Amino acid sequence: MKAIVLAAGSGTRMKSNLPKCMHKILGRTLLNTVLSALREAKIEEIIVITGYGGERLRSSVSMDVKFAHQAEQKGTGHAVSMASEFLNEDEDILVLCGDTPLVTAETLQKLAETHAREGNAITVVSARIDNPFGYGRIIRPATDGQFLRIVEHKDLEEGQELVNEINTSVYMFNGKALLDALPLIEPHNAAGEYYLPDALEIIQSNGLKAGVLLAPDSGEFVGVNNRAQLFQAAEGLKKRINEKHMMNGVTIIDPSSAWISHDVTIGADTVIYPGVILENTRVGENCVIGPNTRIIGSDISDFAEIDNSVVLDSSVGEYTTVGPFAYLRPHSRVGARCKVGDFVEVKNTTLGDGTKASHLTYIGDSDVGGGVNFGCGTVTVNYDGKKKFRTVIEDNAFIGCNTNLIAPVTVKEGAYIAAGSTITDDVPEKALSIARARQVNKEGWIKK
Ligand code: UD1
Ligand code: CA
Repeated sequence: MKAIVLAAGSGTRMKSNLPKCMHKILGRTLLNTVLSALREAKIEEIIVITGYGGERLRSSVSMDVKFAHQAEQKGTGHAVSMASEFLNEDEDILVLCGDTPLVTAETLQKLAETHAREGNAITVVSARIDNPFGYGRIIRPATDGQFLRIVEHKDLEEGQELVNEINTSVYMFNGKALLDALPLIEPHNAAGEYYLPDALEIIQSNGLKAGVLLAPDSGEFVGVNNRAQLFQAAEGLKKRINEKHMMNGVTIIDPSSAWISHDVTIGADTVIYPGVILENTRVGENCVIGPNTRIIGSDISDFAEIDNSVVLDSSVGEYTTVGPFAYLRPHSRVGARCKVGDFVEVKNTTLGDGTKASHLTYIGDSDVGGGVNFGCGTVTVNYDGKKKFRTVIEDNAFIGCNTNLIAPVTVKEGAYIAAGSTITDDVPEKALSIARARQVNKEGWIKK
């Protein structure tokens, strides 16, 4: 089976420079969200219709698809006709929109089944919604001889506004019926566009059968035309994802404030506090995440706790605690049973198991062994104004409070550094290094 995804529109109502289908919900574009449902439904061939911002939209697509270009956006019927060269008469064709991101693979499969079972030439998926404003309405035949129709909001006749069964813009066509209908669609409507829904009447007037699949969950068909609907779609997806995690044994204290994207895995007995954003991340079992924490592109091992912190492209080992108010910048690997405490920033650095930096410390471009203790206010001075250099701190070293480590520099195993030192030379194994001026007390100085 083939699918056509309509994504050429500019999305005027979004008031954006970005093509509409490139707007994101939970870290993924609307179009890629739709494409992933198609992949899940095992659709083999996908043709995406691009138009406004076509180049940008194409380069944002994360799957192997074909593209057809609609230079001028003359309506959904015209958009589908751009894919004609890819279509065959003897196959079924699914058509859906890139701005309807919540549609599920199950619904698409059900559509295919209904279409085949009823022997339809066209099957439209409909849904009943409380507020049908803006959607095309399904107008069922009142008497024999009438056709099943879809009337766009702008073209509604007296009384039809009350119809709350909407066209979801998800259709299955018989290839020949579609290819025969497309050239017959005419732009006789309020918008002056070639409407794909008009194919419904054309196909029936050719003596072929049309059917409607009334989908039980209208939440799947939020069409994103403006930013309020973008939020509505994100909310729907968030709910779906959070429920999946909760069913898998994750406690989410306040699911309304946990924004977990599709590419996140979370182990059982992990607790997610309010205000958490997780993207492209694995979280192990028995972790505590949040409140107010953002973790992107990272790997968090079992029993880790991350509180009020930001973690980007990094890994955190078992039983390690991060935060409150810590910042792990990209390429940081924090070992097991470590502590990265308040106002500690770690960047492009490895911390071995059991290493602790409890407060007010910057560790950048460093290779740190296990069992190291950073006193409050340690700074690895990695930048000389032109170049960055690395700091090496071997196992079990003890870095006194308020130490500057001027890179490149190595502190050997088990060495101690006295508080307030500025270390410019390597420190030998198990040595004590003091690099500060001696204290002078001037007796009676104030009186003098
Ligand atoms: C469309 C349907 C409406 C349905 C609603 C469901 C039509 C005429 N109307 O209305 O019955 O209830 O979806 O959400 O089909 N597009 C193109 N090229 C164009 C025009 C649109 O590719 O020339 C794409 C858009 O990028 C979008 C999709 O088609 O992804 C739907 O277009 P949109 O303008 O959003 O249609 P709606 O008014 O939402
Ligand atoms: Ca729409």
